[in-house]
Amino acid sequence: MSAFCLKKIKTMDTNTVTTVSNADFLATVAEKSDGAALRGDYSKADAHYVVSQDWAAYTEEEHALWRRLYQRQMALLPGRACDEFIEALQAMNAADGIPEFEKTSQQLFAATGWTIVAVPGLIPELTFFEHLANRRFPVTVWLRTPEEFNYIVEPDVFHDFFGHVPMLFNPVFADFIQLYGKGGLKAMKLGGLDQLARLYWYTVEFGLINTPQGLRIYGAGILSSGGEVEYCLTPGTSSRHIHLEIERCLNTLYKIDSYQETYFVIDSFQELFDGTAPDFTPYYDKLRSGNPLPANTLLPHEVELLPAQ
Ligand code: PHE
Ligand code: CO
Repeated sequence: MSAFCLKKIKTMDTNTVTTVSNADFLATVAEKSDGAALRGDYSKADAHYVVSQDWAAYTEEEHALWRRLYQRQMALLPGRACDEFIEALQAMNAADGIPEFEKTSQQLFAATGWTIVAVPGLIPELTFFEHLANRRFPVTVWLRTPEEFNYIVEPDVFHDFFGHVPMLFNPVFADFIQLYGKGGLKAMKLGGLDQLARLYWYTVEFGLINTPQGLRIYGAGILSSGGEVEYCLTPGTSSRHIHLEIERCLNTLYKIDSYQETYFVIDSFQELFDGTAPDFTPYYDKLRSGNPLPANTLLPHEVELLPAQ
């Protein structure tokens, strides 16, 4: 998940986030989320919300919980996650405990020129986009508690690192995310953030890709989830699986507290890159004043790509 995909953040006045200071960001979050504070220690964050990971401070219990999360996912992912994800994850050697970001960051930099930066938790949109535009991926330092094994409200290190980082080893996907960051900075100026956030949600977080072997997962929100990995590829549920059309996706609402009602499917990462390359200004101009589509919409021309047997 990201700076703008959660309920707490979505209710924030996005226009104010562009200029607020660190303290104002937190105050705004607290005010708009009924006083609930963001999880994470922001006191040592720099102007870009970067902290040091302090790997030595993780407890043996936390490393053990990481291993359990990792093993649960690895039992589910073969034949469901895309090959790009599985191959990169295996090369990252992250099975034995919470990884040292610095080590993976060096591997990643050698592969695609991206680095990992440690952050205390959710960060303002502007900061998030600036990191992506500069090929830096923000990864939350804290791990969920054992009680949150199956479900977590804010993204933690397992979601951010396990779910997102492997895909950044793919050159085309890595370039796409950088352009997304630049597109975010542009959307802030054009009033298109709601639309652009939906694209992130339905691709980077919950995207599926069509392969000769069948549908596969590349979205981090699914890959790090215990239940949705199976659910999203099960035929005959009430969810739809339709080919990604950019304008349609930009205009589709999403659910943050249930499995997705719509999964958008791409045929290749190159298709995703090429489809998002055009200037989005006309989309924003058109969609801003209209009504977005409910999350469970199926338009007349749309074909279900995972039909019930
Ligand atoms: N092409 C988009 C624009 O002009 C930016 C973008 C790139 C958005 C990649 C998403 C992904 O606004
Ligand atoms: Co995420």
